[in-house]
Amino acid sequence: MFKINDNYLKLPGSYLFSTIAKKIAAYSEAHPDADIIRLGIGDVTQPIAPAIIEAVHKAADEMGTEAGFHGYAPDLGYEFLRSKIAEHDFKARGCEISADEIFVSDGAKCDCANIQEIFSLDNRIAVCDPVYPVYVDSNIMSGRGGVYDEATERFSDIIYMPCTAENNFAPDLPSETPDLIYLCFPNNPTGSVLTKDQLQQWVDYARRVGAVILYDAAYEAYISEDHIPHSIYECEGARTCAIEFHSFSKNAGFTGMRLGYTVVPKDLKTPDGVMLHTLWARRHGTKYNGAPYIIQKAGEAVYSPEGKAQLKEQVAHYMRNAHIIYDGLKSSGYTVSGGVNSPYVWMKTPDSMTSWEFFDYLLEHANVVGTPGAGFGPSGEGYFRLTAFGTYENTVKAVERFKNL
Ligand code: MLT
Repeated sequence: MFKINDNYLKLPGSYLFSTIAKKIAAYSEAHPDADIIRLGIGDVTQPIAPAIIEAVHKAADEMGTEAGFHGYAPDLGYEFLRSKIAEHDFKARGCEISADEIFVSDGAKCDCANIQEIFSLDNRIAVCDPVYPVYVDSNIMSGRGGVYDEATERFSDIIYMPCTAENNFAPDLPSETPDLIYLCFPNNPTGSVLTKDQLQQWVDYARRVGAVILYDAAYEAYISEDHIPHSIYECEGARTCAIEFHSFSKNAGFTGMRLGYTVVPKDLKTPDGVMLHTLWARRHGTKYNGAPYIIQKAGEAVYSPEGKAQLKEQVAHYMRNAHIIYDGLKSSGYTVSGGVNSPYVWMKTPDSMTSWEFFDYLLEHANVVGTPGAGFGPSGEGYFRLTAFGTYENTVKAVERFKNL
């Protein structure tokens, strides 16, 4: 008789954004006329930029010709895309990352979730609290993390690093020693950032204790301040201790197109010289058949002069929304943070409401959807996340509704 992987049964509840989607569906069914504004999941609303669409059409046409047809993509992704990534995302920032250290994939979420497979099951992970749920859930599914304690809402063998108003939502170095450290900056969900000095401290710490930092840079395009690093490889020594994840979803609107990449530097090795790059290449080769040629061509257009100019405008569009949310809520008396180098605004719930109470209250009284902070971990309780990825009109309307609550 078959047996299931009962690690899955250790996961409390359902995936956060599925729970929210179900709640919205139930509310819409009961209130079919409600004009619901969704500022919950970080999904983009702007159409794909013209330079990218042009590249998609061209690549699709090519695929219909004998000369331009492409079958399976190379394991690591097409050279034309990897070399553009290396040049624009790393070399231009003074980071020493070569094209063959870049693994193209269909998005950062899958890579963030799958990377733990190349590490031993007895490795201990450290995560920020609140945290993007994928890091924890994927480790639990694999058998790490220990048992879940309902009272503390924490797994016994995970090191949680509280990110609260007291530390500006930036984690302190942990008192217990982890093997794998997940960091995401600009942060999802709080919108906080680390300065280069702060990030350098993490790199120095990881090297000292022999840990690997799993750095999620999905939101780096939203950094507006010069002293905030876009990549962990801007820090000295990061090539020997960090893996970095990037997404085309947030900077170029690819949530429905699917494209991302992961950097595994060749200097990242075990003490006896095994390169993590080799392991990830093996995993990629066995379990993944590559992002479609057409989509990788679309990704290449992200780095063309036209693509870059159009995406700068797109990011500015979302950041205008972020400012509208931040300023509007602040002037209405809410305590808010984030939103400066991030498309997420993190607010304190009013009147000591729990995050989920506020979710229900806001949905019912303003028909606005956000994401309950508690869904990202116990330190998110009493907070609420709003995304700037909505349309301008809906963002303005949502803020007006907040003011009238
Ligand atoms: C979020 O809302 O946290 C993100 O959209 C989730 C994701 O990128 O997978």
